[in-house]
Amino acid sequence: MSTLLTDIKVIDYKFYVNGQWKESQSGQMIEIQSPYLYEMIGRVQAMEKEEVDEAISLAREVQVEWANTSLQERAKYLYRWADELVNMQNEIAPIIMKEVGKSLKDARNEVVRTADFIRYTVEEALHMHGENMKGDSFPGGSKSKIAMIERVPLGVVLAISPFNYPVNLAAAKLAPALIAGNAVIFKPATQGSISGIKMIEALHKAEFPAGLVSLITGRGSVIGDYLVEHKGIDMISFTGGTNTGEHLAKKAAMIPMVLELGGKDPGIVREDADLVEAAKQIISGAFSYSGQRCTAIKRVLVHEHIGDKLVGILKEEIERLAVGSPEKGNTVVPLIDNQSADFVQGLIEDAIEKGAKVVTGNKRDRNLIYPTLLDHVTEDMSVAWEEPFGPVLPVIRVSSDEEAINIANKSEYGLQASVFTKDINKAFMISNKMETGSVQINGRTERGPDHFPFIGVKGSGMGVQGIRKSIESMTREKVTVLNLSL
Ligand code: NAP
Ligand code: G3P
Repeated sequence: MSTLLTDIKVIDYKFYVNGQWKESQSGQMIEIQSPYLYEMIGRVQAMEKEEVDEAISLAREVQVEWANTSLQERAKYLYRWADELVNMQNEIAPIIMKEVGKSLKDARNEVVRTADFIRYTVEEALHMHGENMKGDSFPGGSKSKIAMIERVPLGVVLAISPFNYPVNLAAAKLAPALIAGNAVIFKPATQGSISGIKMIEALHKAEFPAGLVSLITGRGSVIGDYLVEHKGIDMISFTGGTNTGEHLAKKAAMIPMVLELGGKDPGIVREDADLVEAAKQIISGAFSYSGQRCTAIKRVLVHEHIGDKLVGILKEEIERLAVGSPEKGNTVVPLIDNQSADFVQGLIEDAIEKGAKVVTGNKRDRNLIYPTLLDHVTEDMSVAWEEPFGPVLPVIRVSSDEEAINIANKSEYGLQASVFTKDINKAFMISNKMETGSVQINGRTERGPDHFPFIGVKGSGMGVQGIRKSIESMTREKVTVLNLSL
């Protein structure tokens, strides 16, 4: 592991426009600090508006030709990109680890999952066909009218990704956009942009047409609004926090958007659940990568009759979790920055002040928060509602399914929910009432497999991702009507 680390040099990274790596005229660089090495691992360019304009204007030109190429032709480029990512996994994975503090195994999985995602996206697109409609199925309509409905690209897609999956959640936007015939302006999270740059290096090796994909670096707070409001952007695909998403939605006005935002996924544990299995799923859901997943289980709603038993099992398992540096393959790792750790610590303290019981955890070393289980959490505590994006799990005891459903749905979020029970009828009853995009029965909340639709409702988003759905969101239907003389 240390050999890999010493291989990575602290360098100044360039942005990518017109198929070339360039330095910004601004002369300004943004330092990227590793969340666990506590040192600078590289610097990225703070781009100027004129450079953004150039990238968008080129994208508009190149997109027209790209959309005219055959699907088979576009597929070849994407397959090559997937191959290059796999070839580069030993280079990219340690960078992801250093930049966002994810274990090397998880980082490598992210790269391989991304290559699989790209390949599946191509295959899905190859099997998507249009539709024909005949006029005479409508009263008074004529047989001589036939509508041919196909999907056409939207134009230039702005892809904005978060820090926690800096390669996968970016490629999950680029691949469907490109295969559908769009050009892409990619703005990675600043903490995550070196990983994004490496992903684009793989794309560059696949020799896509120059200017089709550009990578813009710079703080979202500085260039974000400019990008989102730019007249050259035809669609925005955003993944990130709810506040940022809401801000973007106001700025974007009538530009089509898909927003995948925050979550507060509940794990509902019924009296009849297999508690050992439920605890296993809840812990994996809540604590992997320190809970820095939108789909992490972020609260447990347990029936009071089995509360003590479940909390006992959870405590035992949580205390076995490996905590520390991602270089040692730990599950619970330092959070992305100190500010995030302060936020999580604040939630823990607020809960304690209001009467929650610390079952385990509540220990902190800089931005490393030890996995914390809070029992007897009540609705007046912030941790019952806020998304911590950290390793703290509140347990709320309920007296009925109805109470669990009620508390689950009171949340401003609606990403996913898990229900643990042996009663399949009750599971469906709860699932039907859940105001979330997905419900997992006897499993942890998670996005994959990546061809499943992935949906956030309420404060968790707008629109649908998942391979086919992403392609659909980056295209529109176009109808050509044939008027025959029969
Ligand atoms: P974030 O702070 O909202 O940032 C997300 C992206 O938005 C970054 O690229 C950021 O750039 C950019 N940005 C910030 N201000 C902007 C603006 N005014 N205009 C345009 N772009 C702007 O989120 P994060 O901290 O990276 O990720 C954590 C959050 O994302 C959590 O809430 C999590 O639940 C959510 N998330 C959701 C999903 C999902 O699929 N539902 C998946 C992953 C994460 P800078 O980095 O330069 O500020
Ligand atoms: O936070 C990223 C989100 O998309 C979760 O992905 O695969 O960890 O459920 P996953």
